Amino acid sequence: MTSSSIPSDSPILDTPLWVVVPAAGTGQRLGGEIAKQYQELDDVCMLQRTLDGVALPYVDKVVVVLAEDDEHWQTLDAASNAKVITTTGGQLRAHSVLKGIELMLEHAPDNTWVLVHDAARPLLAASDIKRLITAVYNSGAPGGLLATPVHDTLKRADEFAGAVETVIRSNLWQAQTPQMFRAGELRDALQSALQSHGESVTDEASAMEFSGVQPLLVEALEPNFKITRPVDWALATALLQAKRLMGQSTEQS
Ligand code: CTP
Ligand code: MG
Repeated sequence: MTSSSIPSDSPILDTPLWVVVPAAGTGQRLGGEIAKQYQELDDVCMLQRTLDGVALPYVDKVVVVLAEDDEHWQTLDAASNAKVITTTGGQLRAHSVLKGIELMLEHAPDNTWVLVHDAARPLLAASDIKRLITAVYNSGAPGGLLATPVHDTLKRADEFAGAVETVIRSNLWQAQTPQMFRAGELRDALQSALQSHGESVTDEASAMEFSGVQPLLVEALEPNFKITRPVDWALATALLQAKRLMGQSTEQS
């Protein structure tokens, strides 16, 4: 993309911006006949909803990482979007993200910025994406992520669910996605963290932390919870319905 074709609301960056969306999971904790990313959330397939949220005018390309036995992708509008390319995922989320980054790096230089965003977070607001990009880029940090400070009192439990300790929460955050890094650095960090730490690489930031850098935590101001269990599904549906009704009443007034 040339600078003259970058939309005016685009955050300033020194490279084009890519997005990688891991969507190769099976959604065991939610359940249902098909994987959760293909179930309809307030009448729109969750993966399509997530992609509609991240395929912003200032995003160059989106890589969607699908399960090897995926049978549903071709039914989505996103499958015919020229900005979107796909690959297949791996056993852990981190393997799937790494596959997506490797495909991206066949088409883009190592220093290209990438946002990794879960298919299972369909509520992400454009305003929070822009805040993340701007905060990370302006801070000079090697990368960063949306997150929320922990507000509940935290307990450490023993193996019988007895509370043994109250953990000081003042500097604890819950990590979300998108997580933003330079793609080549993220590939190297994921490869080495997967080798040495395996299943404890639960997000991109953890891989970067293992490689010795400190990603910037940027507070998400809008709802962006992950759809994991049926209660999350119900909450997200209620939120989307309320938004739709509010939109209708504003149009009528
Ligand atoms: N994911 C992936 N590859 C995997 C595992 C997960 O691409 N091997 C993706 C999921 O599709 C989801 C995101 O990573 O978009 C976050 O994972 P999670 O919410 O845990 O989804 P699932 O693994 O599908 O759900 P569950 O753990 O309940 O089976
Ligand atoms: Mg999972």
